[in-house]
Amino acid sequence: MAETHLTHSAEDDIRNSDIQIYVNGALVHRNDAKVSVYDAGFMLGDGMWEGMRLYDGKWAFFEEHMDRLFDSCKAVGIDIRLDREGVLDALTRTVKANGMVTDAHCRLMVTRGLKDKPFQHPQLSRSGPTIVIIIEHSKPIDSLQVCGIRLATVPQVRGLPMSQNAKFNSHSKLNCVIACMQAEQAGADEGLMLDPHGFVNTTNACNFFIVRRGEVWTSTGDYCMNGVTRQKVIDICRANNIHVFTKNFSLVEAYSADEAFLTGTFGAQTPVAEIDGKSIGNHPGAGPMTRRLQSLYKDLVKENIS
Ligand SMILES: Cc1ncc(COP(=O)(O)O)c(C=O)c1O
Repeated sequence: MAETHLTHSAEDDIRNSDIQIYVNGALVHRNDAKVSVYDAGFMLGDGMWEGMRLYDGKWAFFEEHMDRLFDSCKAVGIDIRLDREGVLDALTRTVKANGMVTDAHCRLMVTRGLKDKPFQHPQLSRSGPTIVIIIEHSKPIDSLQVCGIRLATVPQVRGLPMSQNAKFNSHSKLNCVIACMQAEQAGADEGLMLDPHGFVNTTNACNFFIVRRGEVWTSTGDYCMNGVTRQKVIDICRANNIHVFTKNFSLVEAYSADEAFLTGTFGAQTPVAEIDGKSIGNHPGAGPMTRRLQSLYKDLVKENIS
């Protein structure tokens, strides 16, 4: 049986058992970092988060991540009570407390905060948001690049924006968690999710691209997370005269792609080895276009943090 990979598999790092975590302004050892059982994030999944990576002491694409966080919090009426500078300051304090410079991954979480009573109404959260920052030492494992990820198409689909909008990076990820479980039951690493019309959309934790005859295709973006990395790959293609299309396509085209890869802040571009047991392309690991985009993306990160 093939080795199981998670798209977020990182090398074991003993330092992570001793990290300091930011909880509402305080820096506390991970064993003591706690939020209340009355917290809206715990009780209802009522919160938003961002995943960001630290390169040479700087957060890559910080402004883009803040755009998404502030926009989503505004849409659901969560007042962060910090501006971007305030968020950056909290991140910097956490980085310093942990002596981190590079190869670190952050989960910045903002919930509606403590509730007076264990019920849903947002007005029951009166004391302001709960802000937690977990930053771990994090280096994606090399074997992901060598072996690639195995996807299975799952019954769980992406929703229409008038239900829970897929663009909310909300604490509640149940739709994605169910998709991930279905993929696991099918013997795969991650779930390939369709949109409500049956077109290929995205995976449960990353955005999805295929390469066909020198062209790069990804979904229209209507039902998937507006991934920062997804947009950077599209921008890179446009800037380098690589034909890129955001369009509807089906599993037939995905199965017969020359290459496929996932995008996300953690893994940047992760090659896809197979979909529903069908191998993609005739190369182990990343194909030539994926490798080219990986290299261009690295350059873009360098430019962004300089
Ligand atoms: C469902 C889903 N898709 C894609 C992504 C990748 O987004 P990004 O490239 O901004 O990390 C995420 C990350 O949070 C996600 O949760």
